[in-house]
Amino acid sequence: MHNKRNIILVGFMGTGKTTIGRALANQLKRDFVDMDCELEARVGKPIPLIFNEDGEPAFRRMERNLVVELSRRNNLVIAAGGGIVLDPDNIRDFNATGLVICLKAQPAEIIHRLASCHDRPLLEKGDKGERIRNLLVHRQPLYDAIPCQIDTTGKAPAEILACVLIKLNSKIQV
Ligand code: S3P
Repeated sequence: MHNKRNIILVGFMGTGKTTIGRALANQLKRDFVDMDCELEARVGKPIPLIFNEDGEPAFRRMERNLVVELSRRNNLVIAAGGGIVLDPDNIRDFNATGLVICLKAQPAEIIHRLASCHDRPLLEKGDKGERIRNLLVHRQPLYDAIPCQIDTTGKAPAEILACVLIKLNSKIQV
């Protein structure tokens, strides 16, 4: 945990990547990059508008380019977008640059956490709960393939942060 390899948080929307990533970066005195925020700042518009005006494939290309760029840096805590697992090259590159940690939560809790959010374009069409469950069915194997997992269900941010720090301490070469 004392070297400069990146720490990358992945996981479905609503699993706490941004909140925990920021707290972790503070704790470890590292720079924090939230990929969605970074892309919004670079493109100059919010994610829903990127999806609407440029389309999801264009967003995925932007994400991919950012992964390549971030993978060349070190000493970062990175909160990836929930769809980062869709391109195996992203996970390969992140694995090469640091430790990838997958945050997970029970679907019912994810649905509850995202109930009042309106900044997730993939959840805006149709019933939100159904969309979440459908996306999870397709993506679960991709998230499950990540060796380092932390279940956030029923846990407060401080508790999740503690779990992450324990995981990091258990990894000799992080
Ligand atoms: C997405 C997750 C979002 C954002 C975009 C697409 C996804 O990030 O990148 O709305 O495909 O799961 P968060 O997981 O940070 O909400």
